[in-house]
Amino acid sequence: MSGQADPAMARLTGRRVAVGVTGSIAAYKSVELVRLLQTEGADVRVLMTPAATAFIGTLTLETLSRHPVDTDVLALQADGRIGHISAAHDVEVIVVAPATAHWLGAMANGLASDSITAACLATDVPVVVAPAMDGGMYSHPATQANVARLREFGYTIVEPGEGFLASGMTGRGRLADLPQIVDAVVQAIAAAVSSAAPSGAAADSAPGAPTSSTRSDLAGRHIVISAGGTTESIDPVRFIGNRSSGKMGIAIARDALDRGASVTLILGHVSVDPPAGAHIVRTETATEMQAALRALTPPEGPTFDVLIMAAAVADFRPRTVAPKKLPRTADLTIELEPTPDLLAETAERVRVGTAASGLRRPILVGFAAETGSLDRAPEKLRAKGVDLLVANDVAEPGSGFGTDTNRVTIYATDMSPQALPLLTKREVAELLLDRVVVRLAATEPATEPATEPAAEPATEPATEPGAERARAGA
Ligand code: PMT
Repeated sequence: MSGQADPAMARLTGRRVAVGVTGSIAAYKSVELVRLLQTEGADVRVLMTPAATAFIGTLTLETLSRHPVDTDVLALQADGRIGHISAAHDVEVIVVAPATAHWLGAMANGLASDSITAACLATDVPVVVAPAMDGGMYSHPATQANVARLREFGYTIVEPGEGFLASGMTGRGRLADLPQIVDAVVQAIAAAVSSAAPSGAAADSAPGAPTSSTRSDLAGRHIVISAGGTTESIDPVRFIGNRSSGKMGIAIARDALDRGASVTLILGHVSVDPPAGAHIVRTETATEMQAALRALTPPEGPTFDVLIMAAAVADFRPRTVAPKKLPRTADLTIELEPTPDLLAETAERVRVGTAASGLRRPILVGFAAETGSLDRAPEKLRAKGVDLLVANDVAEPGSGFGTDTNRVTIYATDMSPQALPLLTKREVAELLLDRVVVRLAATEPATEPATEPAAEPATEPATEPGAERARAGA
């Protein structure tokens, strides 16, 4: 499972991998393949041909991957995007394992009759293919010609092994050993990264290393990010504060700037430098942060496209602030009062402002600092009125306050929670902004050019004809 990834050893940390499963008896091995990829730190989503679902249930792979499984080339996702097109654009590698003789033939001829061939046609990311079938089928000239054609496309073929087949015979057709397939995925991403990197930069960009966006998918967007902790005075000397360093919010700001956004960074108390290029608004208290947010959400409508509240805002403050330093006494009782909920208030101002102005509603993202369990996160998502809520268990080693890493689960009103492995805060930022980009595209007015290439209308049959069930090799 993704949560078991050892970040020191993982080679696919933060990488987005699609696993395509076709109709072979070896489909059952895809469960273990998903787990192995997650153990390497990958965020895995699964595409299946209809025939594959005869061998293995979607529920198993949905539960493991924590993403809906795409089985229908005609299906739309909850956000309105076409499943195979979003897979084609959201992942960094596609691995088809097992790949049947039928699928190899369809792919070699560009027949997009299932989600996997459609995604492979629509993408420019590396594709790794691990065939599995009966030995006679694999050695047939038709299959060999199809495999050769896929190699011409630049696909990596992980040759099947020799051994006992589901047909009861022995021969070359067994799905390659899973670690071999995982190695091929790692190598395919490494090759893609180093060919995309400017010369000399490849070593910094190996799989598992912090990724840095080269995209400009936030160009023209104004993103407001809060970071750090607010402080509430007790007297002129003392205050109530929290352990936030600002690293999480500042990592998001850096990634947003790299992706072309204009960034307003509302800072509380932080222990790291903010990035050059961001417009910085310094605040001390929840009241000052509230004023900064209100200035950005006037009654005429919000001035930003995205708000991400990573700041740890004080929930309570002293009801009165002593004008002079309090003397040392045996006991001191301080009466606290709640601070306003800045995020919920801003979400409401945004709702009212956009309704009045007709402006597009910005994407709102909250964070949730929890200890021990994330059980309260769904209710926070609702109560704050946000699109996404990034929950972290701040009691977990390596997560939360002051650390360079974080393990988060992303909640949304329209999808099941997505648990990410332990990642650097920069990697969390990148994966979070990927999801924000998708949502921004989904709220584009129909008259504006889409940010994604338009999907072809899927006019081809939705089902995979004739799966090779009886003779498929395991
Ligand atoms: O800064 P780092 O050291 O890198 O640590 C990162 C972090 C742990 C601070 C960050 O990952 C995080 O969890 N930030 C949210 C902290 C928090 O205040 O959580 P909360 O569950 O109490 O609040 C939920 C949301 O409401 C947050 O988006 C918060 O900004 C917001 N809030 C909270 C209280 C309040 N009065 N007004 C708010 O707007």
